[in-house]
Amino acid sequence: MRKHVASLFSLLLLSVVSANVSASEKKAAMAVSPAADRSALAGDGIAMFLPPGIADYPASLALAKTPVSVGPLPADWPIAPKFSRKAGKTFVSVTVPEGSDLYGTGEVTGPLRRNDRSIELWNTDNFGYADKQAAGRRLYQSHPWVLGVRKDGSAFGLLFDSTWRAELRTGRKIKLSSDGPPMPVIVVDRDSPQAVMRGLAELTGTMPLPPRWALGYQQSRWSYYPDSEALRIADEFRKRKIPADVLWMDIDYMDGFRVFTFSPEHFPDPKRFNADLRARGFHSVWMIDPGVKSEPGYGVYDSGQARDVWVKDAKGKDYEGEVWPGMTKYPDFTRPDTRRWWADLYRDFMAQGVDGVWNDMNEPAVFNVPGHTMPADNQHRGGGDMAAGPHLQYHNVYGMLMVQATREGIEAANPERRPFVLTRANFLGGHRYAATWTGDNVSTWEHLKLSIPMSINLGLSGQPFSGPDIGGFGGEATPDLWGHWIALGAFYPFSRAHAMKDTGRKEPWAFGPEVEKAARIAIERRYRLLPYLYTLFRDSSIDGLPVMRPMFFADPRDADLRREEQAFLLGEDLLVVPKWARAPKLPKGVWRKISLVEGDGKDAYQAELKLRGGAILPLGKVVQNTGEESLGPLTLLISLDEKGEARGRLYEDAGDGYGYRQGDYLLTTYRAESRDGLVRVDIEGAEGKRARPSREIVVQVTTDEGVFTAKGDESAGISVSLQPPVL
Ligand code: NOJ
Repeated sequence: MRKHVASLFSLLLLSVVSANVSASEKKAAMAVSPAADRSALAGDGIAMFLPPGIADYPASLALAKTPVSVGPLPADWPIAPKFSRKAGKTFVSVTVPEGSDLYGTGEVTGPLRRNDRSIELWNTDNFGYADKQAAGRRLYQSHPWVLGVRKDGSAFGLLFDSTWRAELRTGRKIKLSSDGPPMPVIVVDRDSPQAVMRGLAELTGTMPLPPRWALGYQQSRWSYYPDSEALRIADEFRKRKIPADVLWMDIDYMDGFRVFTFSPEHFPDPKRFNADLRARGFHSVWMIDPGVKSEPGYGVYDSGQARDVWVKDAKGKDYEGEVWPGMTKYPDFTRPDTRRWWADLYRDFMAQGVDGVWNDMNEPAVFNVPGHTMPADNQHRGGGDMAAGPHLQYHNVYGMLMVQATREGIEAANPERRPFVLTRANFLGGHRYAATWTGDNVSTWEHLKLSIPMSINLGLSGQPFSGPDIGGFGGEATPDLWGHWIALGAFYPFSRAHAMKDTGRKEPWAFGPEVEKAARIAIERRYRLLPYLYTLFRDSSIDGLPVMRPMFFADPRDADLRREEQAFLLGEDLLVVPKWARAPKLPKGVWRKISLVEGDGKDAYQAELKLRGGAILPLGKVVQNTGEESLGPLTLLISLDEKGEARGRLYEDAGDGYGYRQGDYLLTTYRAESRDGLVRVDIEGAEGKRARPSREIVVQVTTDEGVFTAKGDESAGISVSLQPPVL
């Protein structure tokens, strides 16, 4: 089917080329450098360019489906790549409009604005983001994608569709130099950055809707063991009334670091342990690394041997490298049979009551070798759409193919539940399989601050579900740093604290009563926001827009907002200004300061939250975990615009499973209007087959004079009087 579509595409392209590019124009372009000689529209505001010598769009790992031509490229199409080859390398150069601000480029340190940067696309295990060789230019993931915003607020995106090792330089000319053969380039050109991000989602697909519990606060450490210690941590959360949903099991739960095993000493009965966690309202996520201990007699190794699943060295022998368990072999995830084998391993694993899976070390990391990974001339055998090729070609997608197989395995093991996978390594498009955290940061102010542009740029590269280790993984956190980090961390799309082995304790109560109180307030704020957050995640699963957004999304024409990287947006309506932010640039228009939890306005650590004029924010009550009923009451917090109106949406479903695909959801649009001192709130529209629960609604109108409140029944509409008493 794919082949057929691709051939049809090349036929169309031939006619496109002859119909639209005059011979002299074509010659002129070739004289500069061998410019794209095959181009076509592949969607609304989406152009694809095939380099010389490529007849059909090759199978793509980044894209969700092979693009097809929908017509010729208009003669005035503004941005086009030029291709050239030299010494076995491919060079692509794209001149972008003057004055454009650049973003995206994946998981990167440094500023939000990505102009004049050089990024190596080569997934790298980079502790503390400090690896000298990598020089801050490469981290755990690769995203050959740049988002550009022109002066007038219109935007474009460039997607270099190649997995090979490459270097990406940004500037007036965006240049990719790749160690691989020429690749297709896709250019999205639309009237706003949001529209370009929708275009990226049309190409690469969207994040599947995660289970609602994965939006809760999560606690991790390398490692909580034995099982009694993990349960003690869970109990502390409940005792101290700090909401949390997930506890994480790092490598020490395994038997000698053998993947898919449990330490008989520390986790003798994982099923029972998982049930105990569930009884406390916790879900569990367990780590699985790719390296399989080379040890005859170990079941996973033996079955891998029997099926010959491993990556080969240049001579065709099984490649072996050292990781936690000692010498390991690495599954060759380019092979469909290896992916099936890997997926099947999750059947018994998930049957232990495991809720989610954490795939780590999947760059893949190899200890004590140059480059900290396997040799570039290792061989992957491929299969299906994927050709056989060297590691140089497949290194960047090793982690992505791993999490694809992991996700498939979890899905098959628990078909009624939504999978949750977290990965360290990934590639453009990998949001289809897994959420991500940003690897081994350290407990410093620098890393706290850079986590904001980092997560935003991941979102602007198609990955909406990300966050760093709250509090910093390596090193020691001062109480002040941890307090500020949790106050911010409650607003990352993925909100998890983690800590490295042999560092001091980094649970919310480890830093004294003041920080514990700040953590409670911050996390309670997140739990109050869950209805809004879940609605944002649902939107993102449909339109691909990030959950955590740069400030310039509020007004792409406002040049002042383009470099703002302290304050950020959650969705369209909520603005988060960290307590430590200095002179943040905020959007013009009405943005009203709001309070979500008693005392949050006076606390020394909490970020300031502002609600857009014209927005209705759906809020739950504070619960200790997402399994508790949080919408009794449902609060609608209203900030009216200049016309005295506001609108907001709330998405609800079962929180897990796939009923929503058959219509078992409820998407409500609320509308508020102010008239004669009364604000009336009504349901403007509703979608989905899920019955509306009968529940109490609290409506709060936040104004410059104070907050006005009323209670009532949402189906009947509710009116709030804007007369005193002011609350
Ligand atoms: C490296 C990961 O980045 C870190 O989060 C984890 O704790 C360690 N591996 C141990 O598994």
